[in-house]
Amino acid sequence: MPAPTVHPSGRAAGAEITGIDLAKDLNSETFAVIQQALDEHGVLYFRNQTLTPEHQIAFTAYFGEPDVNFNALRFGVNGSPIIYRISNITENGQAIGTRRAGETWHTDMSYAKNPALATMLYAVEVPTLHGLPLGGTGFANAAAAYDALPQSMRDAIANLKGVFDFRGRKRSSPVSAEDIAKYPPVEHPIVRTHPRTGRKSLYIVRDDCTAIVGKDARESQALIEALADHIIKPEFIYQHTWQQGDVVVWDNCTVQHRAVQDYDLPSRRLLWRTTVKGSVPV
Ligand code: SIN
Repeated sequence: MPAPTVHPSGRAAGAEITGIDLAKDLNSETFAVIQQALDEHGVLYFRNQTLTPEHQIAFTAYFGEPDVNFNALRFGVNGSPIIYRISNITENGQAIGTRRAGETWHTDMSYAKNPALATMLYAVEVPTLHGLPLGGTGFANAAAAYDALPQSMRDAIANLKGVFDFRGRKRSSPVSAEDIAKYPPVEHPIVRTHPRTGRKSLYIVRDDCTAIVGKDARESQALIEALADHIIKPEFIYQHTWQQGDVVVWDNCTVQHRAVQDYDLPSRRLLWRTTVKGSVPV
């Protein structure tokens, strides 16, 4: 097997890894290269992969325990609760996946006590317009955004917590009363320390984060908006342009992401999605 090689994107996040067939078992040295690259770059992509759902779940499990997602209950691949479809495709009048998933900047499952550690997407179909790939995914490096804050702002936010509420964001697919009951509002620090590297990142998301503990509504909103806007400045962004067969994995502590909705049928987009369970943010 050729040695895995890491090619940084040259942007604030993201690196391509070549020389790995993700349908095969990985040895510990190879996975160590992947883990270190993820810790360093926040987002990794592997081109030209050919995966079954089982391969994707097996690769996900190298990073930690695969998590169940509420969307998988409707859109699970082969009925699995841990791998589900994101798609704009309908078959027999029925959506086959979550449509317009994640179209605003966010970090996965921030509404949960244990937000997702990592998320993985595999591109089965990529929309195009006259050969131009559409439906990219943007990533914003929230650790680089934290590093760029003036010291006075770092001091002001050092010990603040945000209230994260599952009901805060408008979701693309229906949410049941059980889902809402499962995720009561939760408080997380708005400056998170990475569980592996110890690096600090901003952990604040418009809509998902509905208040700052100890601040009134006006002050809370002003701070949430200022920091959320700061994270997505162009200098912190890597935008992934999908090719069929891409696998992309990202670290939800280090980066935020959003799906670019610049396509529609008859251009089809189909991605398989898995997540890895995370720890309580500190
Ligand atoms: C997501 O937020 O998980 C979806 C990202 C995408 O579809 O590009």
